[in-house]
Amino acid sequence: DGSPTPHPPPPLSSSSVNTLISSLLLASLAALGEGSLGQTTTQIQGLLKPVTPPSKVGDLLSEALKSFTEANGTSFQVHTSSGVFTKQGPAISQAFTKQSQTRFRLQNQALGKGDFKADPKQLQAWATATHRGLEGAPLLADIKAKAGAMILANALHFKGLWERKVNEEKTDPRTFLGKKYTKVIMMHRAGTTYLYIYRQISALKRASLVLLLPFHVENLARLDKLLTLELLSKRLEKTSVASVAISMPKANITSTLSLQKQLSALGVADAWDQESTGKLHLGGVLHWASLELGAGAGKQDEESEEEKMDRPKMFYADHPFIILVRDNASRALLMMGALDHAEGEVLHDEL
Ligand SMILES: *[C@@H]1O[C@H](CO)[C@@H](O)[C@H](O)[C@H]1NC(C)=O
Ligand SMILES: *[C@@H]1O[C@H](CO)[C@@H](O)[C@H](O)[C@H]1NC(C)=O
Ligand SMILES: *[C@@H]1O[C@H](CO)[C@@H](O)[C@H](O)[C@H]1NC(C)=O
Repeated sequence: DGSPTPHPPPPLSSSSVNTLISSLLLASLAALGEGSLGQTTTQIQGLLKPVTPPSKVGDLLSEALKSFTEANGTSFQVHTSSGVFTKQGPAISQAFTKQSQTRFRLQNQALGKGDFKADPKQLQAWATATHRGLEGAPLLADIKAKAGAMILANALHFKGLWERKVNEEKTDPRTFLGKKYTKVIMMHRAGTTYLYIYRQISALKRASLVLLLPFHVENLARLDKLLTLELLSKRLEKTSVASVAISMPKANITSTLSLQKQLSALGVADAWDQESTGKLHLGGVLHWASLELGAGAGKQDEESEEEKMDRPKMFYADHPFIILVRDNASRALLMMGALDHAEGEVLHDEL
């Protein structure tokens, strides 16, 4: 449409080894877009393209958020909180507070007065108090909120409830060949599942878990480069049902992200004005996320199905993989991440 294509955003500045991001963050940004005026509203709408008309972005995201949280407990369990933290400065209007809470579950919180050194601690405490599983994420040292700053924060913990329980008795310690070689519990299950070139498993009803595993042990940079939304959508439409024996580590993927650089590169540039004290401005966008890969609480896997399987394809996820959670109905990607390292006893390469 003639508008300049933005430069690709810089790599995610994560303070954690693994990376995980949820598109629910966009709902909070939409709330902010509806609240702020002028350039920032336009820039946030620009980021959330290609929705037409742009004014509908908020409605769509509000609906998506509602449908996701209503599905809580069906095929996954999600704990999520979003907050906009303000540091002194002018008060946020009542109307905005109410609207952003009802439409986007965004709550208003005040950051402590005084020195900004205490702010990261307060934010971290909020994230960990809201959700188990976020404890491991390190502190965010780069948050220096001046008076008038708004900090947007999302915290999310996701746990899939498998349609068929992964057999715990079949778990055993194996080696995960990640950034460090670690001893992990591997979970095994066999059954029919969806399969395509990069291999996908679909085990949740309302949502699908998609694993993209390089054929060889390698870091994910190559796959990362190849992967585009177009390619992914095309591949996911072409899935076929096949017999697969899956093994994957019992692990938590946890990450903490500070997204200022990425959002600026994607065009949300004017909101960060720290010079104009006394006016509201964005001081940070923080994202805590964790995803639990566990045995889950579904029905027990039926032995008969396993017995019937004739030469299943092997899917042995003992090295880094990309993981996506896709909403079955809307096909929206709810979470995107990668397991580069699985916590466990570090093993030394004995070769
Ligand atoms: C989802 O359900 C769990 C368990 O019932 C609950 O603790 C949690 O707050 C719910 N999440 C949301 C977003 O409502
Ligand atoms: C993942 O996190 C949950 C909740 O904090 C915990 O119960 C579980 O033991 C963790 N799993 C692993 C493999 O560390
Ligand atoms: C996904 O949803 C469609 C209907 O929207 C349903 O027919 C299909 O069985 C669902 N897929 C899974 C894996 O449950």
